[in-house]
Amino acid sequence: MTGGGDCPGLNAVIRAVAKGALYRYGLEVVGFNNGFRGLVENDAWVIDEKAVSGILHRGGTILGTTNRDNPFDFRLPVAGGGYRRADCSHRCLESLKRRSVDRLVVVGGDGSLALAHRLSTMGVPVIGIPKTIDNDLPATDVTFGFDTAVATATEAIDKLHTTAESHHRAMVVEVMGRNAGWIALQAGMAGGGDIILIPEIPFDYEVVCAKILGRRSRGKQFSIIVVAEGAYPAGDEPLYRKTAGGARRLGGIGQIVADAIETRLGMESRATVLGHLQRGGTPTPYDRALATRFGVRAVELIDAGRRNEMVCLRGGAIGSVPLAEAVSGIKRIDPTCEQVRAAAAVGTCFGAPV
Ligand code: F6P
Repeated sequence: MTGGGDCPGLNAVIRAVAKGALYRYGLEVVGFNNGFRGLVENDAWVIDEKAVSGILHRGGTILGTTNRDNPFDFRLPVAGGGYRRADCSHRCLESLKRRSVDRLVVVGGDGSLALAHRLSTMGVPVIGIPKTIDNDLPATDVTFGFDTAVATATEAIDKLHTTAESHHRAMVVEVMGRNAGWIALQAGMAGGGDIILIPEIPFDYEVVCAKILGRRSRGKQFSIIVVAEGAYPAGDEPLYRKTAGGARRLGGIGQIVADAIETRLGMESRATVLGHLQRGGTPTPYDRALATRFGVRAVELIDAGRRNEMVCLRGGAIGSVPLAEAVSGIKRIDPTCEQVRAAAAVGTCFGAPV
């Protein structure tokens, strides 16, 4: 099953698990639809060779996904509309039993893997595969989907560069990443962002504006500011907006930064929010290969009788770690790390001294 927000490379993983299981071990693979909802509702189908043919390069997931369904706090529809919440985790166990599943492969980020870990404590044998464009899982150097998101964000920054230069504007681009600034840092470096604002380094508008003025004094009449959706000014907190459904969702800091620059410097500023563009589209070659390696290793772990582990990439090698370790918090950027220092060394401003 695939759970949580989608990301490029999910289909490549499904293909690798299915083909790897079938070709090398003659194992049958069953796919549960729409994340944990499919598990609760026993909504599944046999993934044969034909089903995974031609999907390696396709974004999204042929299994569907959702980041709203938690089997321990499941929304059950009630007559007359609306829903009530109930613990339906026992129904997951029943579905797995009915389909004679001996290993549950969960392709997910921190949320889905935490739920999988919880199911494992109830006796469900789980193998996890780390996915998320945010790259914020602590037990793996990188998650698949991240490289594609960075490529999308970098291309956007490149495009904003030319229009920023033509119009002598400050162009702010807001990227995803929740409470970790990996996409902003990586794409900001690759795209030559003049200022990169990340949640790990609360920023100061004075420092941001001083950087823009400094560029102006050297004849650079435009600036590119890359802002992670979870970035915030020192002394403040990340910006959430309420949705119609009442959910709290990060977003909007890009426009606030653009407005602040315009007000403080009288410089024309524009904000672009990349949003879900970063989650869609064709996975990069790197993500396709990584997803394939992850999927194949998951099957190897199953064949070896292992359970409750997550496959990972460490120092360039594929390995695995206990699931409990994989869900222990999130991986954030160390403000003193080599990547931040390298960016700062070529003049990138982080909105605060680094
Ligand atoms: O976790 C991946 C992610 O893309 C975050 O970067 C972002 O905040 C969130 O998902 C958005 O999720 P949704 O699909 O609920 O809009």
